[in-house]
Amino acid sequence: MTTTDNTGTTTTTAPTGTPALATTRFPTGFLWGSATAAYQIEGAVREDGRTPSIWDTFSHTPGKVANGDTGDVAVDHYHRWRDDVRLMADLGLTAYRFSVAWPRVQPTGRGPAVQRGLDFYRGLVDELLTHGIKPVVTLYHWDLPQELESAGGWPERDTAYRFAEYAGIVGEALGDRVESWVTLNEPWCSAFLGYASGVHAPGRTDPAAALRAAHHLNLGHGLATSALRATLPARADIGISLNPSVVRALTDAPADLDAKRRIDALANRVFTGPLLKGAYPEDLIADTARVTDWSFVQDGDTDLIHQPLDFIGLNYYTPAVVSGPRGEQDGPRLDGHGASDHSPWPAADDVVFHHAPGEVTAMNWPVDPTGLTDLLLDYTAQAPGVPLYVTENGAAYDDTVDAEGRVHDPDRVRYLHAHLAAIHQAIAQGADVRGYFLWSLLDNFEWAYGYGKRFGAVYVDYETQTRIPKTSATWYAQVARAGGLPA
Ligand code: NOJ
Repeated sequence: MTTTDNTGTTTTTAPTGTPALATTRFPTGFLWGSATAAYQIEGAVREDGRTPSIWDTFSHTPGKVANGDTGDVAVDHYHRWRDDVRLMADLGLTAYRFSVAWPRVQPTGRGPAVQRGLDFYRGLVDELLTHGIKPVVTLYHWDLPQELESAGGWPERDTAYRFAEYAGIVGEALGDRVESWVTLNEPWCSAFLGYASGVHAPGRTDPAAALRAAHHLNLGHGLATSALRATLPARADIGISLNPSVVRALTDAPADLDAKRRIDALANRVFTGPLLKGAYPEDLIADTARVTDWSFVQDGDTDLIHQPLDFIGLNYYTPAVVSGPRGEQDGPRLDGHGASDHSPWPAADDVVFHHAPGEVTAMNWPVDPTGLTDLLLDYTAQAPGVPLYVTENGAAYDDTVDAEGRVHDPDRVRYLHAHLAAIHQAIAQGADVRGYFLWSLLDNFEWAYGYGKRFGAVYVDYETQTRIPKTSATWYAQVARAGGLPA
């Protein structure tokens, strides 16, 4: 007999003598996906007309990436994409989120497209569709053509217009077969890690430039959305993937609550203000007044940014715990994004980040699935009626291959299980979550950490490019096939 309670938990009582099987079911049609990004997996950086992106320049600059690693070869996906799609099909995935490398399609960031670049993505999309896997295309996952950075990069307004032109090109090329589009991936990282703390490309450390970059990323999203709507069939869905900080105050002391408010403004409301409300928050403008006067926001910009979203993508890994100044910073900066003498938080470099107690992943990021439930419910309240996707979630662990050639990663299985259960809880409380994209399909180039951090459900031997599905991949395949979590 099968019964379903009001949280959607289905309990199947097996015939006498066999153990009962309880499954936490997800809604019908829920997408079981994985995600990757071009620079992290493709390699082939000098093939078929591709020119350098800011990440090529940055990773080739000594001292910027651990171990001197670069994306030159990465996991050679540019040559192994058919095998990688087969791997996804074998795992029973129903969706795949990947990014298009702007410098493969429009090498200088302006002007006509390179057909071979577009053909690569058309081939990939067709292969996915053949296997019944829904392609979700991210247009910008951090690989700005170097020429555009040399012209000023995201702090320059023109970059937003260039991005819209590029979005239109890709929309034109793939719009007949791709229904789901993500304009930007984690614009917070592009703006604040790229231009304030400098731990990401292009490695600049200018807080005013970071705030300008944030605005031009927002504007780029708005302009690209218009360009896509002009090109794509009406059924296409356009959204954005944010990495909101789930910010918690260390105590209820006024200074700690104020630290939380300030980080919430700089991490979250700098994007959701214009995106969801059509205005930058007044407290953000006041907090950052000593850094910038925001005169780069022109009349009409926030209207362009404030367009209907067909969905919101949320990337979640760990929450942040903050307090007001505590004298000495307690140890290294703990905001989880890499070591730098420069803060990624303009005008809030006195805020102290604390480590939540308990388990951490290999990134030293605390494991806290409750943050994901909170996040989904928060966006349900902020953007009523807008479907949500978890466009990234996952964990790095120090995986190794055992004597039998297997990779056993029970910590990742527990992480995934707990976070999927957290999503289920949010759904039970009213969140309209339509899919989950495990980060990542494959071990890959983890930005400033290079290949030292493994996020894949599939292990990659970087010497031979052999792929070995980890225990977590097999587990996730079962979840995808069952449409729910095992008891
Ligand atoms: C978010 C980014 O989008 C992705 O590129 C990165 O690898 C993961 N987080 C893990 O840090």
